[in-house]
Amino acid sequence: MKPSVKLPLPGPKAKALFERDKAVLSTSNARGYPVMAERGQGVWVWDVDGNCFLDLMAGIAVNTTGYAHPKVVQAVSEQAARLQHLCFAVIPSEPQIALAERLSGKLGGGYRVFFGNSGTEGIEAAMKLARYHTRRPFFLAFSGSFHGRSMGALSLTASNSKYRKGFGNLVPGVSHLPYPNPYRHPDGLKLLREGLDSLFQHTVPAEDVAALFVEPIQGEGGYIVPPQGFLRMLREVCDEHGILLVLDEVQTGAGRTGRFLAAEYEGVKPDIVVMAKGLASGYPLSAVIFREELSSWPSGAHGTTFGGNPVSVAAAHATLDLLEAGLMDNAATVGEYLMGKLRMLQGRFPRLGDVRGMGLMIGLEFVADPQTKTPDPALRDKVVQRCYEKGLLVLGAGPSAMRLAPPLILTREEADTAVELLAEALEEVLEPTKA
Ligand SMILES: Cc1ncc(COP(=O)(O)O)c(C=O)c1O
Repeated sequence: MKPSVKLPLPGPKAKALFERDKAVLSTSNARGYPVMAERGQGVWVWDVDGNCFLDLMAGIAVNTTGYAHPKVVQAVSEQAARLQHLCFAVIPSEPQIALAERLSGKLGGGYRVFFGNSGTEGIEAAMKLARYHTRRPFFLAFSGSFHGRSMGALSLTASNSKYRKGFGNLVPGVSHLPYPNPYRHPDGLKLLREGLDSLFQHTVPAEDVAALFVEPIQGEGGYIVPPQGFLRMLREVCDEHGILLVLDEVQTGAGRTGRFLAAEYEGVKPDIVVMAKGLASGYPLSAVIFREELSSWPSGAHGTTFGGNPVSVAAAHATLDLLEAGLMDNAATVGEYLMGKLRMLQGRFPRLGDVRGMGLMIGLEFVADPQTKTPDPALRDKVVQRCYEKGLLVLGAGPSAMRLAPPLILTREEADTAVELLAEALEEVLEPTKA
């Protein structure tokens, strides 16, 4: 199967809907991609004009099992018919308990779980839990990080100042450290160590830090894969000072990198891990999974009406079943295959400065010149637009990277199709520069 797109995009029906969207929806929504979605099946998405796209963005790294996976559809339909909502915070039921047991088991046991509805909400809960447990005021996070846009989560987020513009003051007491980026700084771990030492010496007493929040691979910030040893180093620093290590696996978790959690690659155990996005194949669910010893907060100290919604929980069980039945392995093998093909493409197009990733979380960074590595956001934007016109759904990330985060059901053949389309897009966009 191949994508098929009738230009120009958006088509007539989509255009009319974009007009209505513009008139009634919040102006804070991100727009600029020319697709008005109608339905999805597997890794394919159709828009309202009948254009068919190969999806390499999965609703921002969410649709783990693709669109309308029969096992997920069945689980969700059966649960919707049985029980939709009774507020898990007040009246529990077996599926949520079983999911918490399952998630704790994935970390080797000894963890408790708080269910929410979104990544942001999970991060907020983790901040509160860390404060409550340690009674310490400060937090650490990283430049380039994305943790959400509510007031607390936004205080950690530092991927783009536009997210903060006009919203100050935020939660005080957050310091940002340099995220090691091997493409730009070969000695990133050393810079980080020095940054930490300086921070602890001059501004923030280590013993007053409640928690350090970190993405094992930086997502929104540019799909940056840090050097090996990064998380182990953070674990050591946190252990030394009694700081809680909070892994934000909202984007990296649920098998996307070829492991259930990306931190497994380093063998690092978190104090708290936050999952959302891919956990329930597109149904709203987040899980804050924390060491049993941290659970000193009393009944009612934190809660939410919809958290652990039974339909989302059913989708999560079906998603975990499918991950365990081979999807996670597929993410690892097809991801490696796709990376190999993309690296070959890099040989033809040097301004594709960096190809990086793990499993099916892959970043392509575009630069003005491979020697200077100057970021080229305009080039990235052009390539992204051209990909859409060719029927390939992709997204930007960071100043000049493009992210590939397809459903984990992607086959090698579909990966080949994606690379062919991307190669065509690159040829067309970069041709004028060659001449
Ligand atoms: C790493 C990370 N943390 C937190 C969030 C916030 O999640 P949500 O948009 O579900 O609130 C995101 C969203 O992109 C994310 O990528």
